[in-house]
Amino acid sequence: MGRGEAMHAMLKRVKGAYALAILFEDDPSSIIAARNGPPLAIGHGEMFLASDVIALAPFTNEVTYLLDGDWAVIGKGGAAIFDVDGYPVERPRQTSMAAAYLANRGQHRHFMEKEIYEQPEAIGHVPAHYVSLIENRADAVPIFDFASIPTLAISACGTAYLAGLIGKYWFERYARLPVEIDVASEFRYREIPLSPQSAALFISQSGETADTLASLRYCKKLGLTIGAIVNAAESSIGREADAVFPILAGPEIGVASTKAFTCQLAVLAALAISAARTRGTITENEVQALVRSLAETPRIMSQVLDSIQPKVELLARELSKYHDVLYLGRGTSFPLAMEGALKLKEISYIHAEGYAAGELKHGPIALIDKNMPVIVIAPFDRFFNKTVSNMEEVAARGGRVILVTDEKGATASKLDTTHTIVLPAVDEIIAPMIFSLPLQLLAYHTAVFLGTDVDQPRNLAKSVTIE
Ligand code: F6R
Repeated sequence: MGRGEAMHAMLKRVKGAYALAILFEDDPSSIIAARNGPPLAIGHGEMFLASDVIALAPFTNEVTYLLDGDWAVIGKGGAAIFDVDGYPVERPRQTSMAAAYLANRGQHRHFMEKEIYEQPEAIGHVPAHYVSLIENRADAVPIFDFASIPTLAISACGTAYLAGLIGKYWFERYARLPVEIDVASEFRYREIPLSPQSAALFISQSGETADTLASLRYCKKLGLTIGAIVNAAESSIGREADAVFPILAGPEIGVASTKAFTCQLAVLAALAISAARTRGTITENEVQALVRSLAETPRIMSQVLDSIQPKVELLARELSKYHDVLYLGRGTSFPLAMEGALKLKEISYIHAEGYAAGELKHGPIALIDKNMPVIVIAPFDRFFNKTVSNMEEVAARGGRVILVTDEKGATASKLDTTHTIVLPAVDEIIAPMIFSLPLQLLAYHTAVFLGTDVDQPRNLAKSVTIE
């Protein structure tokens, strides 16, 4: 039996998700590749094989993606691709965007640090790219018609899910559009009754997360219009969507997502403004004010990054001595509290939880003592006074409060906090992007003090391509 026949016979019997690269002891210049589920890309030139085009970026930007069930024989001169039935097939050769950026750390100690500091530049691409969509110009995405959809479904995993949760607040508040949202590992199995007239958004930095892709396919089967908010437009999630909304963040190498999160937020904000305008739920003046705020984000981010580092480093040194940390917030600061906790736990391995501040009395308050710092995220918004009263409850029980607020909030709060990080006062719609920065830096410096592997924390992978 030849290699091709053996491969075909073997793949007919193999079940489940796989991405295979088979090497031959007696023929080192050949590789047989096969994919079902997790991604595989062939790089052209000297010929390469990788699960992520970023790995190919230093060598080639000419790539061919294998589709589910495909297998390929790769040799020095090129690749022959076959489908699941063993018939030769053509798959398009594409120019990968990833090659435009050669991934290196530059002056920074870690990719995560570099990516935190890249945010003002990265997020600056978003308003420029989405302005035509917001203004409903003819070249906007006609397939995604916010005016006619009764509901919006959103699904994603991890940090991308938390970006989606913040997006839900915006779509509901500004565009009066009800949002059904869940983590993709639940969404895909819940058998949610969704109308084919609805639309669904899937958020994924990598565009390859298995549960998010499965949720997308569930919605596609029901006939919903599918939008993908992805960093890699060429990814599986990007390719299977009806409309792609790129986050334009550039490659993110650190496992902990930072710039992808804030760029996802910026895209969601742009889409929510666009939806509100199309649905006539806000005035033209309000649209313009929101767009202006969005355009201000890069400048304010730079200002914050230039000023908060010494204070955050000091705080991180202290935080590194604790075993548990609680994050609290209300409104969009609630998902942000969960994101702050996720960042801290994944890279420093300190146990952390994010809670809606109003839930404190329903359980977590029992944990409060001097050994569990409480990080309160409270911009001076319509929830501020309520969050302050939660802070007082923490202080009254001997808890250590670390307040992250803005100039107005710092003046208004009379509480004697252990630490206060003061940020510029900004419009509500960009507050989550700005308030992310101290949370990311706090997690980063705490992990650096503890000496963990910041860019590749234990047990985690950058893209989770299996369930
Ligand atoms: C946390 C983190 C993960 C990812 C999640 C989804 O810092 O990076 O929680 O957000 O695994 O990954 P993507 O966005 O690639 O679908």
